[in-house]
Amino acid sequence: MAEKTLIIVKPDGVQRHFVGEIISRFEKKGFKLIAAKFMQISEELARKHYAVHEGKPFFEGVVKYISSSPSMVMVWEAEGVIDMARKMMGATFGYDAESGTIRGDFSCSKGYNLIHGSDSPESADFEIPIYFTGEDIVEYDLADEKWLYGKND
Ligand code: RTP
Ligand code: MG
Repeated sequence: MAEKTLIIVKPDGVQRHFVGEIISRFEKKGFKLIAAKFMQISEELARKHYAVHEGKPFFEGVVKYISSSPSMVMVWEAEGVIDMARKMMGATFGYDAESGTIRGDFSCSKGYNLIHGSDSPESADFEIPIYFTGEDIVEYDLADEKWLYGKND
């Protein structure tokens, strides 16, 4: 089974109308959408999600930010999707993210950054069940998989 990553269009991404743009980038790349939920992330879930940062100076700020307004929470699947999605997102904040990346193209803040993506298989395994049960994940084949991965024989 191919790798999975948790992607969240954060509250500023929803408020600034970037849900479609961000989904479109991942779709065009060839990733497979296997779960999606539009929801306001509770403070409790935000604390759980970002628990790795507990105690850091920005922890309370990021919890407040993520739970401040609705988010688009998704799981995308592809071989190597975690690293590819992180490259497509760009560096943490838009002010130093490369042009061509989501954060680099659409954000200039040192606090808000539009999108979350799992940073390792371990993070994805921890983060996905915070938002989705096994039943929420829809497994299916993409019709163009042979063309995406060059496996035509
Ligand atoms: P994310 O987890 O949301 O995908 O972002 P990331 O890996 O690029 O960055 P990370 O270091 O994991 O930080 C998590 C989120 O906390 C906020 N943050 N604020 N003010 C600050 O110095 C600061 N540092 C991090 C950001 O929302 C960041 O995405
Ligand atoms: Mg992170």
